[in-house]
Amino acid sequence: MLKGFHLFGIVVFLNGMNVLKTSQSLFLAYMAKELPQEKPNQLYEPLRYIMELGGKRIRPLLALWACEASGQESEKALPVALAVEAFHNFSLIHDDIMDDAPLRRGQATVHEKWDANTGILSGDVLLVCAYQYLEAYEGEVFKQLTKTFSETARWVCEGQQMDMNFPKQEIVLLPDYIEMIRKKTAVLLGSSLKMGAIAGGLSLAKSQLFFDFGENLGIAFQLQDDYLDAFGNPETFGKQVGGDIIENKKTYLFLHALEHLQGAQQEALVAYFTSHPKDTAAKVNAVKDLFDQAAAPNAIKAEMEVYLARAFKALKGLHLSEAHEELFTDLAYYLIQRDV
Ligand code: IPE
Ligand code: IPE
Ligand code: MG
Ligand code: MG
Ligand code: MG
Repeated sequence: MLKGFHLFGIVVFLNGMNVLKTSQSLFLAYMAKELPQEKPNQLYEPLRYIMELGGKRIRPLLALWACEASGQESEKALPVALAVEAFHNFSLIHDDIMDDAPLRRGQATVHEKWDANTGILSGDVLLVCAYQYLEAYEGEVFKQLTKTFSETARWVCEGQQMDMNFPKQEIVLLPDYIEMIRKKTAVLLGSSLKMGAIAGGLSLAKSQLFFDFGENLGIAFQLQDDYLDAFGNPETFGKQVGGDIIENKKTYLFLHALEHLQGAQQEALVAYFTSHPKDTAAKVNAVKDLFDQAAAPNAIKAEMEVYLARAFKALKGLHLSEAHEELFTDLAYYLIQRDV
């Protein structure tokens, strides 16, 4: 059960904390050197703003660790680490415009601080920078990295489009939702690992096992994100709590509640998710009550366990050293218990 894991994960992860901090400092020093400083400022300042805003830096960490676990110094994967973090931040600038989100990592989103046009163009150039970081590699490695990266970028766009379609779509089934979060979020975690492993000289076939681990972990990660979006602590979450409810996002919480509520409660839920009332706070509170009555929080946690177990199965298949396997295991627990 997740509860049992909770304690275990926290205790064990203390051992991994030093490794995590070291890898993060390595990444941050490299990023500080490589972020664009050119003009015009109106283009590059928002890019540096979002990249320097913090965040967990999970994707770079995955790339560095996969490289090291593949037998090379993690430094070899620094350009990959920066490329995946740049891509992630590009997707966040555009995602925040699309989701009409005011807050990111506890600060104003790019389109709030500047405007939507600024967000569109600085996001675009950040995506281009992400590709340029990969120019640090050559030959077959460069080819495999860009191929993986482009394939992933297309999936993310497809997932984002599905996410935008769902509020207007009358019927959304659980497999549709899983496919949507797999594409918009999970594949980038998978590819961060896979690309780190490729940079570390691992064969394409074995790198794919890293992808499978990250993809399943990524699905659990987005389920937790959807849980926190409704039930997170506004003091610490760093994003607007209730944003998904306000935007009528058909997350797992909604799909589960729709299936398990009946009569007037089910009708109320549908009414909330087909309208945009002015009093958003009242809507968020009422919908959270309905989610609770349908026991949706427990259900989402159970669903997370399913994907976490699949992730661990893939991890075992990699036959890493005990130390590396433990590091990835602890990181997985940390990610699915995160509250930010
Ligand atoms: C946020 O990702 C977007 C999702 C895919 C859920 P993170 O939770 O990794 O964001 P940061 O980079 O740590 O802020
Ligand atoms: C994020 O999904 C997916 C991408 C940015 C591609 P969300 O919309 O749930 O992410 P947050 O919650 O805004 O970070
Ligand atoms: Mg969003
Ligand atoms: Mg979104
Ligand atoms: Mg979210």
